[in-house]
Amino acid sequence: MQTRRMLASDLTDVLTIERASFPTPWTEGMFAEELARDDRVWLVAEDAPALLGFGGIMLAPDGAHVMDVAVAPDSRRDGTGRALMLALAREAAAGGAKRLTLEVRSANEAALGMYAQLGFESAGVRPGYYDETGEDAVIMWADTARLTAIGAAAGGRDLVLAIETSCDETAASVMRGGVEVLSSVVASQVDFHARFGGVVPEIASRKHTEAIVGVVDEALERAGVGFGDLDALGVTYGPGLIGALVVGVAYAKGLSLATGLPLVGVNHLEGHIFANRLADPELKTPLIALVVSGGHTSLIHVPEWGEYHTLGSTLDDATGEAFDKVAKLVGIGYPGGPAISRLAEQGDPAAIPFPRAMLHSGDYDFSLSGLKTAVLTYVRREQAAGREVHLPNLAASFQAAVIDVQVAKAVRAAAEYGVKDFCLGGGVAANVALREALKNALAANGVRLSVPPFALCTDNAAMIAAAAHFRLLKGGFLGLSAEATASLPLDG
Ligand code: KG4
Ligand code: ZN
Repeated sequence: MQTRRMLASDLTDVLTIERASFPTPWTEGMFAEELARDDRVWLVAEDAPALLGFGGIMLAPDGAHVMDVAVAPDSRRDGTGRALMLALAREAAAGGAKRLTLEVRSANEAALGMYAQLGFESAGVRPGYYDETGEDAVIMWADTARLTAIGAAAGGRDLVLAIETSCDETAASVMRGGVEVLSSVVASQVDFHARFGGVVPEIASRKHTEAIVGVVDEALERAGVGFGDLDALGVTYGPGLIGALVVGVAYAKGLSLATGLPLVGVNHLEGHIFANRLADPELKTPLIALVVSGGHTSLIHVPEWGEYHTLGSTLDDATGEAFDKVAKLVGIGYPGGPAISRLAEQGDPAAIPFPRAMLHSGDYDFSLSGLKTAVLTYVRREQAAGREVHLPNLAASFQAAVIDVQVAKAVRAAAEYGVKDFCLGGGVAANVALREALKNALAANGVRLSVPPFALCTDNAAMIAAAAHFRLLKGGFLGLSAEATASLPLDG
């Protein structure tokens, strides 16, 4: 289906649809008069040669108003009305209108639902507005920039700038159509946190403040675009370190206010899941996702994109945190994940029998702090006995203990929920041993594993842009009063 300007030659078909839609239809003369005016834009939706619907707006200095929208009876509910409205909003925005208003019969539930889904808000009710039936009219309005962005996303051509500052990476990315990464800039603060062996929240906030302007500018420059080319902004607004999140959210709101670009809020964990779609655009729901990072360890059932049910999570340390703490314990640097996985390559995973906590707990929760204590106890015992700790064996054995439990629960969840797809996300998804073990165990059960590209496992803004594209399609905008939320839930 396509939309184009209405022509005089369309009027016969237009009148047929008009008469099938309204008790007191407009006449041909009325339409002809409308077409002659230059403060009107009339569009038709067609599946050539069939005309499916039409609509028109009146352009006024302060905004545009929808004069009439009608869809042929057998094309109703198939997205024609929505496509027409988005095309009209684009015309309104091109004509300089910041808002689009319309009136709709209060009994027309289908239309009211469609408009609400597009982000139209009710401005009030005009009682008895429709002469012929005495029905009430609901007056609704929406921001044309928001509608234009939804339209661009629906057409797969949206250009989104996303910002991520939930932990210790200041990141910005420009993406087209939710899949094409035009730029992905990540300024890591890892050197500033390394000597503390973990992220220091106050340092993270300060470094984000210092870096964000440069990171955003660089993302735009590398993508070769300016603010004027963008359709929307996306930002991580939780979960994460509150002081760190606030920097990205405040900056994104400022940009939104200054440029008029609509702002979309993204859940960081949804971003980690969406990183998979960048490597594997065909990835299909239903699936189970395992998000393992410095702040999270969660097994999540995803019956369809945008719907999440957390089956279990860590009761204490996150997986990445366990890697970081163990690395700190044996003095091999920060972040610990990459250091431990490198060492583990030369070690024997069966050398030290570390505990597999909660392997048989019968649920989908994890516990990692006991393992960390077991490593500490082992190191102390070896040192007390005057033996030197074999670091590669220690790293490999620790890693195997983590992986065994995660793989077992992953396989069980996939079987219980009957999914054929599984995906991995978060910094620890970069761990090759975990990827391999999961892939093999799932494959043995007929389940396919999708993994993000290595560069998109740890925090980045490309994954946030991918999720922002999806949220944009759903009309999930953040107002200027929205706030960063440290414990933003994913489920729903
Ligand atoms: O996703 P991320 O960048 O930040 C959070 O959202 O928390 O994850 C960072 C975590 C760190 O704990 C880091 O040690 C871990 O991911 N990590 C790894 C590997 N690469 C990064 N853990 C295990 N193996 C790796 N190869
Ligand atoms: Zn993360």
